[in-house]
Amino acid sequence: MTNDKVQFTRALKTIARNEQMKSYIQQSNELYPLLLKAAKRFVIGEHRQEAIATAKELITKGYLISLDYIGENTIDLKECQKAKNEYLHLMEEMSSLSMQQTVSLDLSHIGLSFDAETAHLHLLEIAKAAKLNKMTVMIGMEESSKTDEILTIYKKATSQYDNIGITIQTHLLRSNNDIQNLVDLPGRIRIVKGAYQESSKDAIPRSNELNNRYLHFVEQLIEANHPVSVATHDETLIKEMEQRGYFRHPNLEIEMLYGIRPDLLKALKSKGYNCKIYLPYGKDWYLYLCHRIAEHPENLYRAITEIIVP
Ligand code: FDA
Repeated sequence: MTNDKVQFTRALKTIARNEQMKSYIQQSNELYPLLLKAAKRFVIGEHRQEAIATAKELITKGYLISLDYIGENTIDLKECQKAKNEYLHLMEEMSSLSMQQTVSLDLSHIGLSFDAETAHLHLLEIAKAAKLNKMTVMIGMEESSKTDEILTIYKKATSQYDNIGITIQTHLLRSNNDIQNLVDLPGRIRIVKGAYQESSKDAIPRSNELNNRYLHFVEQLIEANHPVSVATHDETLIKEMEQRGYFRHPNLEIEMLYGIRPDLLKALKSKGYNCKIYLPYGKDWYLYLCHRIAEHPENLYRAITEIIVP
């Protein structure tokens, strides 16, 4: 990543987390609907009902889905409880529609930024409800400063519930070791490149080396017959995995974010592969929109097009 892009990404993520900015937008009668319209290129909407309706439609078309209630770094205990309760209501409604699918969450949304034990207990509650409803829970991976805590909570929770999966970031140098320690646990491992900026002593940038590491991680999991999710929009990487026959592995899912490369995912689905769409919803769509633009500045154009096109 060039230095300019690093600065741009940092600035945007800072803006995304700025509470004053957030409340200004929420109170603005002009900005709010405009930005929400832009965000809808990548986010289902603000409400659970919208998310469930879209999920239902996509399931009918043959996709697997993973619903994410957007949020992170929640420091207020009541807000963490509210997020946990939202997941419980979400699963209750999904279950009433026989949607035996996945919910995705960040531990810092349900307690980790308050204290680790809260996150652990909330995760157990969510996993229990998911288990009763034959659903799975996928944990996102956050900044490397949180990796140890996230993995510790995951390992503790998965000793009670086998329906929890975990995300591993290929760009982190530690991830090779982490995978060795996780492969004997039952949960699905979602392999991503990594969305957070990390120092060069901890992570490697987007490169062929990163793609080769990605392939190596996926291969290791396939050889171990472990449930794996390949979460990427990188067409070159996808072609390579397809040529190697990885997608014929019954326990492999190809997972993409809603609104990013739907054409590619549709083509893969038409070949009979397991294709999953990550569907984010919630009032914090602004944060999610900023993340997507920070990650891929061209998304600014896509978002604006969404506003301009009648
Ligand atoms: P890469 O970034 O190299 O992009 C390859 C190509 O894909 C681009 O050239 C472009 O064509 C397209 N593309 C990629 N991102 C795009 C975008 N935002 N908008 C438009 N086009 C885009 N990360 C993390 O750190 N922790 C996590 O828990 C998760 N969870 C997660 C779940 C799922 C289902 C997915 C798909 C991704 C994540 N990520 C994540 C994000 C992940 O780490 C990574 O930042 C993005 O997937 C982008 O990386 P790619 O592998 O797509 O490749």
